[in-house]
Amino acid sequence: MDILCFSVLYCISISLFSLAEVCKSVDVLSSSEPIRDGDTLVWVGEKFQLGFFSPGNSSNRFLAIWYHNIPEKTIVWVANGDNPVNDLTGVLRIGNEGKLVLVDQAERVLWSSNNMNTSSQSVVAQLLDSGNLVLKDDSENVSGNYLWQSFDHPSNTLLAGMKHGWDLRMGLDRHMTSWKSAEDPSTGDFTYGVDLGGIIPELVIRKGRVKYFRTGPWNGIQFSGVRLTPNLIFIPKFVNNSQEVYYTFNSFNESTITRSVLNASGNHQLYLWNEKTWEWTMIYTLPHDACDVYRNCGPNSMCTISNPQICSCMIGYQPKSPVEWDTFVKRSGCVSKNPFNCSKGEGFKRLKGVKMPDLLQFTMNTSMSLKQCELECFKNCSCGAYASIDATGGGSGCLLWFGDLLDVKKLSEYANQDLYIHVSASDLDSANSMWKEWVAVAISVAFVVVLVVLYFCIFRRMEKHAQGIAFDLQVKDENSLQLPIFDMVTILRATNNFCDSNKIGEGGFGPVYKGQLPNGQEIAVKRLSEDSRQRLNEFKNEVMLIAKLQHRNLVRLLGCCTEEERMLIYEYMPNGSLDSFIFGKTRENSLVWRMRFDIIVGIARGLLYLHRDSRLRIIHRDLKAIRFSWLTHSFFCYAYYFSCSGYMAPEYAIDGLFLTKSDIFSFGVLLLEIISGKRNREFNHPDHCFNLLGHAWMLWLERKASSFVDPQLSNSFDLSEVVKCIHVGLLCVQRRHDDRPNMWTVLLMLDSESASLPQPKQPGFYIERCSENTNVEMSRRDCNSNEITITLLEGR
Ligand SMILES: *[C@@H]1O[C@H](CO)[C@@H](O)[C@H](O)[C@H]1NC(C)=O
Ligand SMILES: *[C@@H]1O[C@H](CO)[C@@H](O)[C@H](O)[C@H]1NC(C)=O
Ligand SMILES: *[C@@H]1O[C@H](CO)[C@@H](O)[C@H](O)[C@H]1NC(C)=O
Ligand SMILES: *[C@@H]1O[C@H](CO)[C@@H](O)[C@H](O)[C@H]1NC(C)=O
Ligand SMILES: *[C@@H]1O[C@H](CO)[C@@H](O)[C@H](O)[C@H]1NC(C)=O
Ligand SMILES: *[C@@H]1O[C@H](CO)[C@@H](O)[C@H](O)[C@H]1NC(C)=O
Ligand SMILES: *[C@@H]1O[C@H](CO)[C@@H](O)[C@H](O)[C@H]1NC(C)=O
Ligand SMILES: *[C@@H]1O[C@H](CO)[C@@H](O)[C@H](O)[C@H]1NC(C)=O
Ligand SMILES: *[C@@H]1O[C@H](CO)[C@@H](O)[C@H](O)[C@H]1NC(C)=O
Repeated sequence: MDILCFSVLYCISISLFSLAEVCKSVDVLSSSEPIRDGDTLVWVGEKFQLGFFSPGNSSNRFLAIWYHNIPEKTIVWVANGDNPVNDLTGVLRIGNEGKLVLVDQAERVLWSSNNMNTSSQSVVAQLLDSGNLVLKDDSENVSGNYLWQSFDHPSNTLLAGMKHGWDLRMGLDRHMTSWKSAEDPSTGDFTYGVDLGGIIPELVIRKGRVKYFRTGPWNGIQFSGVRLTPNLIFIPKFVNNSQEVYYTFNSFNESTITRSVLNASGNHQLYLWNEKTWEWTMIYTLPHDACDVYRNCGPNSMCTISNPQICSCMIGYQPKSPVEWDTFVKRSGCVSKNPFNCSKGEGFKRLKGVKMPDLLQFTMNTSMSLKQCELECFKNCSCGAYASIDATGGGSGCLLWFGDLLDVKKLSEYANQDLYIHVSASDLDSANSMWKEWVAVAISVAFVVVLVVLYFCIFRRMEKHAQGIAFDLQVKDENSLQLPIFDMVTILRATNNFCDSNKIGEGGFGPVYKGQLPNGQEIAVKRLSEDSRQRLNEFKNEVMLIAKLQHRNLVRLLGCCTEEERMLIYEYMPNGSLDSFIFGKTRENSLVWRMRFDIIVGIARGLLYLHRDSRLRIIHRDLKAIRFSWLTHSFFCYAYYFSCSGYMAPEYAIDGLFLTKSDIFSFGVLLLEIISGKRNREFNHPDHCFNLLGHAWMLWLERKASSFVDPQLSNSFDLSEVVKCIHVGLLCVQRRHDDRPNMWTVLLMLDSESASLPQPKQPGFYIERCSENTNVEMSRRDCNSNEITITLLEGR
């Protein structure tokens, strides 16, 4: 072998490190054959390599394992992180006691494996294809019986198949330790391992001894704060039995290469090797958000990432330092308002979907039921909360918390364990009265809405109003409105697996299919396109809002599906909708002017309702960050039976900026469409290249507004009213959103007989290109695409 490598120094002088393999590559390290700097150890599968390396600019040499076939040198294990070799004289060999030892020229031992002494002469080391460096007695013919293995001593990386946690029989604690920095593999600040916490295990990242992140206790199904689910990249597993407690994961299949790293700032990251781009892609990281950071909100508080103020005191608690609580730092947390005195009125409040408080002062009893647990907590005035231990089979066992409740996070996902917190009599009362307050607010909002409707009914002296179309707005208590969730199988059956022949249209946000439920009811299923992805809660909230906008003449939302794909299920309208009445081919039954006017006013009212968001948000506290775009676009699609398009305001299409004034724009487009009986997106004029908005604008400037009206209406209308509507429509589609009126003003304008309205300015997006390849364009149009941007750019 030494013929291949005249001297280690020679080798290094010609190739530095990259070609060092030329020197020597062996698959077994035996006592007669040590590994010198420049040599490498590789196993048959050639997945990993063991050798010496220097990180970054450093000249220090470390014994390490890295991927053999990945060009970017990715270190997965380091032996002598704290004791580097200062020159190129490092040697790894099997010592007399049957241990792996790393020595330098002066025979100083820089690192050694910590296995038992053995006198056997046939100890060998191998680097397996899993990345595990194993030391074994070759004379023993027992596979898997290693004297020592690197998998038991992880550095900052966890590979597939590695066990992260405890071997209770040997008292072995396998945990990850971060590097000092990406260029310095010496011991860093953070460790990540399994905390046994009594006998309820959880994974914890610590900085020194201080907790930085915890997954929450294992409840038999998941960690209370982190869910482990097998996926197409890796298959996680947690094992808890009397001998071992560990976390491990496997790659989905042979060809997916994954590794997870505890980085120098304490983040646990999972990486996937991307074969196509030849780089590591980060799949996830923990802590994931601010609420994952331990004690971020201090004791007795709840951290909710979707709230603008992420920290809030739990019921029955108040800020310890109100001054500090008003700042961003809330670590002093909350204190009890009324200490428990075990009096009759006290009780418990159930918190669903939360990460269990840290197990600091607690007692547990695995044989108690939840009911017994409650009684136990009730009896002891210092018991702050209880929960079941094991969530499998509906929950069993009893956990009681005493003292402060720390690190409670509101989870967005499904959780299978509830926390019950002890609440004093007066707080229980106030909880009830708070509920009453919400009801009071809801009722007053409903009252205001009714007033508005009444006001318009009287003000407009609409005698035929009952025949017209008005929105019956219903403000209901969140819980009383149950929107059915359809399962995927039902939908697939109903629509013949989304058979093409069932497709009835391509509307905003995705295609629509006709289907039939087993009970014979015909439905229309709208598959929401991928880009309308939202968090599940947000989606459900918005769907609920849409469901609340019921209208007897328009399609009704029957439910939704949230499995795999997001879908909205509407009732099917065989005779077409409003849409076909106005634009359809069978226009003999086209709507008379009075009905059209009522539709316009009805939609305006619906929008006014939506725009009272400040009040809506009181009812739907979860909707703080609601993007009205989705809601209102769905609203338009809904009103128009999925055929929405071309309603997007310029500031939204170009900047992604969304304002309630963008709804006004959409409303203006709709209004002009209803008056003209033509769709903005399909509008074509032989004389010019303008779209419907441009057409209306030109006729307005030429004072020929009356020729804009749908010819179908013949003379069945009051010209001044129609002109007023066109006027309002043009005001709504003005280019600058500041110029557009608000919904309230729009309603006033529509209702007043003789208000002097301001002159409209130039509308947004009124130039449409004239092109032959209209088809290409058409296919791209839906509520979501930025079609208008394209048009605008090419129209210049
Ligand atoms: C490594 O060397 C390069 C070039 O000399 C320099 O830009 C870089 O800052 C150095 N990195 C470190 C960590 O010292
Ligand atoms: C192992 O061998 C070393 C060196 O020979 C010796 O110092 C040590 O005491 C031995 N340990 C045991 C447990 O025999
Ligand atoms: C080891 O055991 C296997 C079967 O388990 C046998 O085929 C093989 O010959 C054995 N090797 C030695 C060296 O004893
Ligand atoms: C973990 O395993 C131990 C030993 O089998 C058992 O007593 C304990 O209940 C288990 N804990 C959980 C949370 O499953
Ligand atoms: C491994 O899984 C990926 C999907 O994650 C798949 O594309 C690939 O074909 C699978 N390879 C093998 C060998 O099964
Ligand atoms: C560690 O990971 C987090 C999250 O991915 C990242 O923000 C941070 O910059 C990383 N720290 C270092 C030192 O690379
Ligand atoms: C217990 O505390 C409540 C206030 O939280 C008080 O109204 C009640 O009188 C107290 N009962 C006893 C027995 O001290
Ligand atoms: C656990 O609860 C059961 C039923 O209440 C009781 O019999 C048992 O003594 C309790 N065990 C402990 C250790 O308190
Ligand atoms: C309440 O529980 C704590 C902790 O287990 C215990 O120290 C205390 O004695 C209990 N108090 C009563 C009144 O049972």
